[in-house]
Amino acid sequence: MARSLRIAFLPLLLLSLALGTAGAAVNVKVGKEVFQNNCRTCHTASGEGGNLSPAEKTRAQWRRFFKKSEHPGQPGIFKQLSEEDTKSLRLFLDHNAADADHAETCG
Ligand code: HEC
Repeated sequence: MARSLRIAFLPLLLLSLALGTAGAAVNVKVGKEVFQNNCRTCHTASGEGGNLSPAEKTRAQWRRFFKKSEHPGQPGIFKQLSEEDTKSLRLFLDHNAADADHAETCG
């Protein structure tokens, strides 16, 4: 009995471990959420930043934007993001840039 219970809990334990480390993941999917939660707030057609989708710039333009590290309307914007979130955001923008293989417009 005790043994089979332990076996039943093992997958749950592994799942919770996997979820626990998911917060620090760096990937395109997280980057899309970062974009929607931190950029879409202003960058909509009627927002103060105007509409902006990843596919509006080429990979080189996005890279240059981050190199300047100074956002025109909101200078401190990237400092608010964790290092992982910034990496994910850059990955997402790079992945969906105008000259990327699989550009998507992101809503
Ligand atoms: C507090 C509002 C706000 C937030 C949040 C915001 N922006 Fe902006 N953004 C602006 C404003 C205002 C401008 C200036 C628009 C202009 O000059 O026409 C701008 C300009 C830009 C530009 C230059 C536009 C161009 O065509 O060259 C880029 C790129 C940009 N933002 C990207 C981002 C990204 C990426 C994020 C998320 C990390 C973000 N912005 C978050 C308000 C915001």
